[in-house]
Amino acid sequence: MCKIKNGFSSFMEKEINEIPEVISRVKQEYKTKDMSEVRAIIQAAPFVHIAACGTAYHVGLMMSRYLEEIGKRSKVYIASEVATSPPLITQDDISVVITQSGETGDTLNALEHFKKQGLKTIAICNVDESTIARSVDFNLSTFAGPEISIASTKAYCAQVLVAEILVKGMPDADCRAIEVISKSPEIKKKAKRFKNIKRILFLGKGEDYVTSLESALKVKEITYLHCEGFATGELWHGPLSLLDSKTLCIVYGDCKKSIDTVAEVIVRNANIWHVSGDYHPIEKIIHAQLFALYLSQEKGLDTDKPRNLVKSVVG
Ligand code: F6R
Repeated sequence: MCKIKNGFSSFMEKEINEIPEVISRVKQEYKTKDMSEVRAIIQAAPFVHIAACGTAYHVGLMMSRYLEEIGKRSKVYIASEVATSPPLITQDDISVVITQSGETGDTLNALEHFKKQGLKTIAICNVDESTIARSVDFNLSTFAGPEISIASTKAYCAQVLVAEILVKGMPDADCRAIEVISKSPEIKKKAKRFKNIKRILFLGKGEDYVTSLESALKVKEITYLHCEGFATGELWHGPLSLLDSKTLCIVYGDCKKSIDTVAEVIVRNANIWHVSGDYHPIEKIIHAQLFALYLSQEKGLDTDKPRNLVKSVVG
C-alpha cells in the first residue's frame, strides 16, 4: 500500500489530486470490458434494489437517477435498514451493493439479505479481494487504488463513473476534473473567509441534490461543522429557519432556476456561494471535497483522521 503523500499536505489532498488519473483509468478499463451479460441482467430485471452506506449510499442515489433515465425502476436503501425494514422484492428483481472497502458490515448484511431472497447480485467495489467483491455474481471494480484518507474522495468519483458507464454507457464528454482542481487557490480563499461559519447548507435539484448530500457529509466529517444537504425546494419547508448571518448556503445549479433561493438566502443575511455551470456531478463534488479539505485545515484539524471515524465499519 502506498503510504507516501508525494508532497501533498494530506492523503486527502493527494487522493483528490489523483482523481483525473482515476477517471482516465476507469474509462480505459471499461472501454474494453465486456458488460453485455451484466447489462442484460439489468435490462431484464423489473426492479433494481440498491444498498450502501454513507458516501457509497449517495452513489446509489446517483445510480438510481441514471436507471430512471433509461426507464428502469429502482430504490436505494441505507444498508443498515434492509434487514430491519425488508424491501418488497418480486421475482427476477436484482440487487446492487456499492462499497469502497467491500467489508462494511451493514452492506454485507444487506447483500446476505438479497441473496437469501434469491436475487442476482452486483457490486461496485474498490477492493477486488474483499468479502463483498468475492460474494457477488458480478463485481465491477472501480480502479481507484488504495484510499488512505478516511473521507472518501477518489473512490466516490470512480463509483459514480462506473455506475454511469454501467447504466448509460461511456460518457461522451471529457471530465474536467483538472480544471476544477486548478481552482484550488480560489477555493482555499473561500475556506479562509468562511473559517468561522457556524453551519453550512448545500442546496441542489436532481443530480445536484445528490451532490448536496455528499458535499454535506464530506464537510461535516472533517470539519465537525453542522452541515446538511437539501433539495432546493425544501428550503421553504423548514430549513429556512436556520438562515442567519452565521450560515453559509452553497447553492448548486443554474442561476435562473435557483434565483428565488438565492434571493431568500440574501434577504435573511445568510452567506451565499453559488456554484453554477454545466458541470458533471464528479466535477461538482471535487469542488466540495476541496472546500472540505481546506476548511478542515483552516480549523487546524487532522483532515485524514477525523475524530471518532474509521475507514471501514466492519462490525
Ligand atoms: C465517508 C465514507 C463513508 C463510507 C461508508 C461506507 O467519506 O467514506 O461514509 O462511504 O462508511 O463504506 P464503504 O464504502 O467502504 O462500504
